[in-house]
Amino acid sequence: MIGFFRRGPALVCDGVPLTDLADAHGTPLYVYSAALIASRYRAIDAAFAAHPHAIHYALKANSTLAIARLLRGLGSNADANSGGEIDVALRAGFIPPQIVFTGVGKTTTELAQAIELGVRTINVESAGELERIDALSRERQTTTKVAIRVNPDIDAKSHPHISTGMKTNKFGIALHEVRELCRRARTLTGIEIVGLHSHVGSQITNLEPLGRAASALARLARELADDGTRIEHLDLGGGLGVSYDGSPVPGVQEYADTLLPAVRGSGLSIILEPGRHIVAPAGVLLTRVIDVKEQPGGRLFVVMDAGMTELIRPMLYDAFHRIEPVLQSSAPVVGAEIVGPLCESSDTLGKNRSLAWPQVDDLFAVMDVGAYGSVMASNYNRRLMPAEVLVENGAAAVIKRRQTIDELLSLES
Ligand code: LLP
Repeated sequence: MIGFFRRGPALVCDGVPLTDLADAHGTPLYVYSAALIASRYRAIDAAFAAHPHAIHYALKANSTLAIARLLRGLGSNADANSGGEIDVALRAGFIPPQIVFTGVGKTTTELAQAIELGVRTINVESAGELERIDALSRERQTTTKVAIRVNPDIDAKSHPHISTGMKTNKFGIALHEVRELCRRARTLTGIEIVGLHSHVGSQITNLEPLGRAASALARLARELADDGTRIEHLDLGGGLGVSYDGSPVPGVQEYADTLLPAVRGSGLSIILEPGRHIVAPAGVLLTRVIDVKEQPGGRLFVVMDAGMTELIRPMLYDAFHRIEPVLQSSAPVVGAEIVGPLCESSDTLGKNRSLAWPQVDDLFAVMDVGAYGSVMASNYNRRLMPAEVLVENGAAAVIKRRQTIDELLSLES
């Protein structure tokens, strides 16, 4: 067995007891399973085996260097969303042709960095950006390969904060404007349009919008070919969801079966930018109980040593994460709100939960936080960035040590 499971009453990661890791490294602590990341990466790769494809892991989901390096070792490429993520990709050993650069607002410095490096493509978000890339490339006497990020006006039916493909969103270029833009772009010598890109949202569990977006892109590629712009690849973004509560969700085979009909026989290769699907279930956040308090009216609060600073998803998206006792107990079951220690009433990890009556210092695991967990951590309330551990081949290694208060304050006068 790989990943997180119980051995007797104890939750383990790839066989390593989580109690040992919390004792050795303290809490809050992120723990990842390398074996689960590998198996989930390989499953996507295998599902698309029938068609020329490249997986560009979306670093934004989790870009701790060791995780990025692990994915590179598995054969992945990278999707970077900022100059910082490009830098992480390079330090993790990706070479520029393995990196696509996406992002709704790329600064001149970031564009120049990507152009000089020669990344695989820059995914272009607006006509203005296309012109800026052209000018910066000509100044450097080079031609930059770009993909046009298309906004297909498709509702991904995910949480509004993470739906990106509707015309009311800030992302991409409206589908009906792309043909004209490409016509005009033919005179630009600093760019070459080689791809079309779309990413309509994240945590998508109804695949139909993804299939429609892929078909829209394939149709547009045919129209562009008629106009003389030869598209080589479709970048279909990320977005495949995971099950946070155990309810059934489509798997990688259904995902491939949804996307591939759009490109079969088209001569177009595809790029995929999965993030969450690969890493979410491969990470947990270990946290200990600081206090158990009953408020007047009978409401029970379990105050943990992790909160919105370590994991903002419950607060930001009302996201549900299972919260498991690391050691099962036989205490009577109570209803409680599991909250963080910060000075915000919305600082919660789980509302209306049932759990065995907890004691101070009990250890819990917040599940499925390998994606958009540690990367979204903050120092609010002067809290320190948590440590992170990767379990690989039965051994646990600290891949990010806990920040110290001196490190936090070293930036300040
Ligand atoms: N490609 C692009 C252009 C993206 O914007 C994203 C995610 C991905 C790929 C990866 O999507 P995934 O496969 O992970 O769904 N913080 C939010 C998620 C934000 C996703 C942003 N873009 C959360 O915690 O749910």
